[in-house]
Amino acid sequence: METNRTDFAGWMQARQRDIEAVLEAILPDPGRSPARLHEAMRYAVLGGGKRVRPLLAYAAGEAARAERARVDRVAAAVELVHAYSLVHDDLPCMDDDVLRRGRPTCHVAYDEATALLAGDALQSLAFDVLAGQALCVNPAEQVEMIALLACAIGSRGMAGGQAIDLASTGQELSLPELENMHIHKTGELIRASVVLGARCGDCDGGSAAALDRFARCAGLAFQVVDDVLDAESDSETLGKTAGKDARQNKATYVSIMGAAQARRFAEDLRVDALQALLPFGAEAARLRELIDFIVLRRH
Ligand code: IPE
Ligand code: IPE
Ligand code: MG
Ligand code: MG
Ligand code: MG
Repeated sequence: METNRTDFAGWMQARQRDIEAVLEAILPDPGRSPARLHEAMRYAVLGGGKRVRPLLAYAAGEAARAERARVDRVAAAVELVHAYSLVHDDLPCMDDDVLRRGRPTCHVAYDEATALLAGDALQSLAFDVLAGQALCVNPAEQVEMIALLACAIGSRGMAGGQAIDLASTGQELSLPELENMHIHKTGELIRASVVLGARCGDCDGGSAAALDRFARCAGLAFQVVDDVLDAESDSETLGKTAGKDARQNKATYVSIMGAAQARRFAEDLRVDALQALLPFGAEAARLRELIDFIVLRRH
């Protein structure tokens, strides 16, 4: 439990340090064979990133008064999946990016085949982490949690969203089509981060539904802001190549409605997310602060 409940920056730094230590302990030893693969996995995960998905899992865990050791595992699993998705997203056959988290992308630092396998192995490790120890009293509930993540990131979730992203490059999407793409490619994993964090604790049906609504708004808002930052920020601030969506003819909220309206839409989603948290009291303070962070961030 944090002693100073008002200091969001301090809370965030503390949780970022916690998840770094958890991931460090979970990732395979780089000295063990196959060493190059293990090194690439560690390169892709450690020492960078905002850790938004773990932060959401921790905040939802707090709202549901969950046991920290359980939330650590959920937080690690969602970040491992996220890191895998970034490694694959950056590959030449996808977005073909050379900069990620202020460093060369995994396939540039290693090679394409190693990056592909590192992504595969990170995804597998995420499920190993979720399945390895008890996350709740009832084992059937734990199976449900594992299935929830599987569903969120598969062909009807994140991977499906990425497929739509690639297929719609150079196409004019309608607003509902764009929203559908973003909800899948980014929203589903963010939603799973919140829902799984909460499921490590005690959450009645009404609270779970409210958190789910919050998470859907947060997930879509996250990608809308990512689109705006790609158009308006610079590579040094972002730690990844700015301006590439326009160069690659990606369908984004900026390409469809312009940056100013996209920002207003993100703000509307922030208001909706906060509204969803109205049934909660102080226990949801970190979630409220996190939606502000997601929408108002500069990188
Ligand atoms: C970038 O995610 C990819 C998207 C899903 C938009 P983040 O902005 O969370 O990347 P890191 O983890 O902070 O590097
Ligand atoms: C990435 O979306 C979504 C996933 C990795 C699933 P983007 O392609 O917009 O992410 P960035 O901008 O490269 O981080
Ligand atoms: Mg992409
Ligand atoms: Mg990309
Ligand atoms: Mg982007």
